[in-house]
Amino acid sequence: MVGVYLSGTGNTKHCMELFCRSLDANVKLIPIEDAQVVEVIKTADKIVIGYPTQYSNAPYMVRDFIIKHSKLWKGKQVFCLVTMGAFSGDGAGCTARLLKKYGAVILGGLHLRMPNSVCDSKLLKKPLEQNRELVAAADRKIKTSVANIRNGKYPQDGLSAFAHIAGLLGQRLWFYKKTQGYSDQLKISSKCIGCGLCSKICPMGNIHMEQGRPIPDKKCTMCYRCISSCPQQAITLNGDRVQEQCRFEKYC
Ligand SMILES: Cc1cc2nc3c(=O)[nH]c(=O)nc-3n(C[C@H](O)[C@H](O)[C@H](O)COP(=O)(O)O)c2cc1C
Ligand code: SF4
Ligand code: SF4
Repeated sequence: MVGVYLSGTGNTKHCMELFCRSLDANVKLIPIEDAQVVEVIKTADKIVIGYPTQYSNAPYMVRDFIIKHSKLWKGKQVFCLVTMGAFSGDGAGCTARLLKKYGAVILGGLHLRMPNSVCDSKLLKKPLEQNRELVAAADRKIKTSVANIRNGKYPQDGLSAFAHIAGLLGQRLWFYKKTQGYSDQLKISSKCIGCGLCSKICPMGNIHMEQGRPIPDKKCTMCYRCISSCPQQAITLNGDRVQEQCRFEKYC
């Protein structure tokens, strides 16, 4: 079994590690941006694909990857694991439908509520204790799901027709434009000290350094990794000010 994931602030990485390693101690886990990912997928019959929902959709980067490598999926058994701040409707269904179109057999889907990674919006912030309880509840759900899978019953979160409608009407239709391509909205303020961290950690290679200054390109997948890690809180995307940087380690 192979686990492939995109994780901006660490939530999905944590859930994938717990889920996949509980199912198969020898699982190979690999971030979707790793140069070896295609070769690793080729070697496996069973794949768990994990990502955070964005506007009740899968991040554009994940859909782009699936489409670009459309020949990779034929005959593969795929399970979709999706993390979210509150609700996604058919977060798992968004990739499941695409993968099925390219010949994959969908085993199931799992939706997990985790702390919200959008850290430049006051509206979405929760107290630390509440976020810690979300993580503990997600861990419990993962353990129950693994036990059910061992008994031959895969969870089917986000895969029904009802979930599809809930995802569309809940958010996807209203935020359609936000998830139809990569973003060019990243802003870097004068607080930046030119440390280069954002450039090193971006999964898209979207930030390059020029004369000690970070220059963002137009290929941001809105993962919030750089925004949550910048030591100066100099980066924003959807909001104008970082409220509190979100990183999984704070909540475990
Ligand atoms: C651009 C963006 C859009 C998001 N949209 C949703 C959403 O529609 N519904 C939701 O419940 N959470 C939403 N979230 C929250 C993330 O899905 C959630 O925090 C996820 O666990 C982050 O995982 P990560 O740390 O692995 O990146 C969004 C996050 C981002 C960055
Ligand atoms: S991580 Fe922050 S301080 Fe460092 S280069 Fe990037 S924007 Fe500047
Ligand atoms: S620029 Fe920042 S938010 Fe955008 S993809 Fe890179 S790390 Fe993620």
